[in-house]
Amino acid sequence: MYKKLNILDEKDKRLRLISDDVSFPFAEKEKNIIEKAMKELKLSQIEEYSEKYDLRPGMGLAAIQLGIKKRWFVLVEETTEDGDEEQSFKNYFFANPKIVSSSEEKIYAEAGEGCLSVNRDVEGIVPRCARVTIEAYDINGKKFKIRLREDMAIAAQHEIDHLNGILFYDHIDKKNPFKDAKLYRPI
Ligand code: NI
Repeated sequence: MYKKLNILDEKDKRLRLISDDVSFPFAEKEKNIIEKAMKELKLSQIEEYSEKYDLRPGMGLAAIQLGIKKRWFVLVEETTEDGDEEQSFKNYFFANPKIVSSSEEKIYAEAGEGCLSVNRDVEGIVPRCARVTIEAYDINGKKFKIRLREDMAIAAQHEIDHLNGILFYDHIDKKNPFKDAKLYRPI
């Protein structure tokens, strides 16, 4: 029997907390949770498992969504190329992330942004930088820098928002969810 992660729902006030900096090393228990989060995101992106375990597809998860008030998040990117027989994925882990530079150009997810803590469709435009450079620490406490673009840039900005108690729909104009659409590039 597969035991799913317990992901907080949007009504849970803990999602509005500002998370605390991570200090290293991680306890084994927390490392296991991080691994499990990556595994579950991967499974959620494979149709067979997403159906079998009733997992909503997602590519990112922040610690606070698991009730852990710390500044870390994971991303799992599908890297399958045309012609590959099996789906492939790449895991990313970020602790204490900081966006050190970002593009002028703004984009938005045309299909709408989703969140594993938000069990409903929310329409509207969430403007995000098309490219961001992030400085962060890996799971062993080693500093690294990475440049992300397009959907990975959106995902990272979405997760960093979680560390600051922000949900994606906070960025959507309540009266006109598609306001200023022309200013941004849909992806
Ligand atoms: Ni989210």
